[in-house]
Amino acid sequence: MSQDQKKRNAAKVAIDYIKNNAIIGVGTGSTINFFIEELAKNKGFIDGAVSSSVATDKLLKEYNIPIIELNSVDELPVYVDGADEATKNKHLVKGGGGALTREKIIAAASKKFVCIIDDTKLVPILGKFPLPVEVIPMAQSYVAREIIKLGGQPELRRDFITDNGNIILDIHNMKIENPSELENKIDQITGVVTNGLFAKRPADILIIASDTEVIKK
Ligand code: A5P
Repeated sequence: MSQDQKKRNAAKVAIDYIKNNAIIGVGTGSTINFFIEELAKNKGFIDGAVSSSVATDKLLKEYNIPIIELNSVDELPVYVDGADEATKNKHLVKGGGGALTREKIIAAASKKFVCIIDDTKLVPILGKFPLPVEVIPMAQSYVAREIIKLGGQPELRRDFITDNGNIILDIHNMKIENPSELENKIDQITGVVTNGLFAKRPADILIIASDTEVIKK
């Protein structure tokens, strides 16, 4: 089975967590695009979505799903998004698409975070996928030096500016044995906006699609 088919299968199962007329949080990436397609099959099913990126805004608009500002709602009941890596503890690395900051804000403002992945993303320890860090542009060199002190190898993501006007440093070769501790340490570097570790606020439900089944954890 193709990776895309597995992503679609996981996305279909995530629909079970959405109640009629809800306003939900929606992430960014190829997996979530399948989820948006599923949402759109049922016109008027949800009242609207808080979007995590300009790319997701575009797709929601194409399907006539109303986009709602986060500041105009209280706590969101559900946030659905993909991930680049996940552990069985539901700790994640996110930000391959560069939308990590808005994704983290929506995750924080949501009651339940449903993360949809295919089984290639389930890992025993995070860090093989380079960890994205959103950085204020003038702090690039300073933040890079501080990350090297933490044991990582930062690489500027070329020709990429986030929806917030910042740059991304992708950290290679980081051994992430304690995700919450590292999440805190990177966030404390002046000039860092957010890092792509989702450990302090992990997923609540992990939906994993393999060749033979879709399991929920
Ligand atoms: C976007 O910034 C990311 O956090 C995505 O959720 C993550 O990169 C997963 O993307 P795919 O669903 O495209 O693999």
